[in-house]
Amino acid sequence: MSVSASAAPAWWDPDTDDLLICRAVLTETEDVKTFVFEAPGGRRFAYAPGQFANFEVECGGGIETRSYTLASTPTRPDRVAITVKRIPGGIVSNHLHDRLKPGDALKAQLPLGDFSTARHPAAKYLFLAAGVGATPLMSMLRAEDDLASGADIVFVNVARRMEDLVFRRELETIAARNRAVRLAHVVTGEGAEPWAGHRGRPTRAMIEAIAPDFRDREVFVCGPDGFMAAVRGVLAEAGFDMGRHHEESFTFGADASAETPTVPEDPAEKTWRVTFTRSGKVVLCDGTTPILTAARKAGVVLPSSCTKGLCGTCKSKKLDGEVEMKHAGGIRPREIEAGQVLLCCSRPRSDVTIER
Ligand SMILES: Cc1cc2nc3c(=O)[nH]c(=O)nc-3n(C[C@H](O)[C@H](O)[C@H](O)COP(=O)(O)OP(=O)(O)OC[C@H]3O[C@@H](n4cnc5c(N)ncnc54)[C@H](O)[C@@H]3O)c2cc1C
Ligand code: FES
Repeated sequence: MSVSASAAPAWWDPDTDDLLICRAVLTETEDVKTFVFEAPGGRRFAYAPGQFANFEVECGGGIETRSYTLASTPTRPDRVAITVKRIPGGIVSNHLHDRLKPGDALKAQLPLGDFSTARHPAAKYLFLAAGVGATPLMSMLRAEDDLASGADIVFVNVARRMEDLVFRRELETIAARNRAVRLAHVVTGEGAEPWAGHRGRPTRAMIEAIAPDFRDREVFVCGPDGFMAAVRGVLAEAGFDMGRHHEESFTFGADASAETPTVPEDPAEKTWRVTFTRSGKVVLCDGTTPILTAARKAGVVLPSSCTKGLCGTCKSKKLDGEVEMKHAGGIRPREIEAGQVLLCCSRPRSDVTIER
């Protein structure tokens, strides 16, 4: 038998590739769907489990950028998948749920972020997930399970009702056949399906009951800010080494950009005019304040999420003027060359005009 040497598919190039084709839409729960994508030409994806992508979605008459975790596993590089919760009133999550169908194309930048077991390899993990915050932890679990790494993983999956537990069946299947994985569901409210197991916000007693050896584990947490704060409090109070605690927020409640240190250069001491062309609003912004922060203070609502220059949600076209931008990977070099800026981490160095 002869084997023909066919060229292996190329890999996705984060600097030049930006198109994903939707191949499947899967229903996870009442308000959570998974969208599976491939790249044109069958390009393969290299990423660390837990990383995310920034999607550019045309909806509501404009282009919105939102981050979604690659919930898929990099051990299966032909596809990536995101799992999205429908947020009441949310622009992009509702658009994806209601409109995106197989064959549709979306622009995306990936991979981004450093919330990953690949950054913190360990023999034992404790994953604590609440709601759709399960996505990065699911990616990490799928990768460890696929590789049969033998890593000892305790996966705590929290939801309001049993029927809201994201990835429930898959988690139960993995835990049933992989002896290194233990699963604990936690329910915080009442639903149609009865539940006699763990209930309520995480407490020290709960964590000790589920993972008595939690102090020996690398801990990864993702969920609403209140949930993550509760876990942080429990671990700190228990004397856990917080250097081994890692968390990712989807909402970034506080405006972190407001806390960034001031910039000493001369232009920073002046106050500049920032004009937003679509709304026609003009905001005064000194050279030490990110434009997003000044706009918010002046009552101009702009899309934003991380406020750390990471997620790309605040990306906007600069039509005129100079800014100093210190980003954290949420914008590509060619986007900067094309005049795009991240408003959460850009401070004016002259009067500036922004297409927003
Ligand atoms: C790194 C990162 C990874 C993410 N991964 C995922 C993921 O895997 N799956 C996923 O579903 N989402 C994920 N998100 C959140 C996602 O980017 C969007 O914020 C979310 O889908 C809401 O967008 P929207 O356009 O529907 O709502 P928007 O129109 O932006 O917001 C509408 C309203 O809902 C509020 N809101 C926004 N997000 C939430 C929320 N999560 N819970 C409650 N209220 C909210 C807003 O404050 C606003 O009042 C991630 C975010 C980040 C930063
Ligand atoms: S809000 Fe995330 S990059 Fe600006």
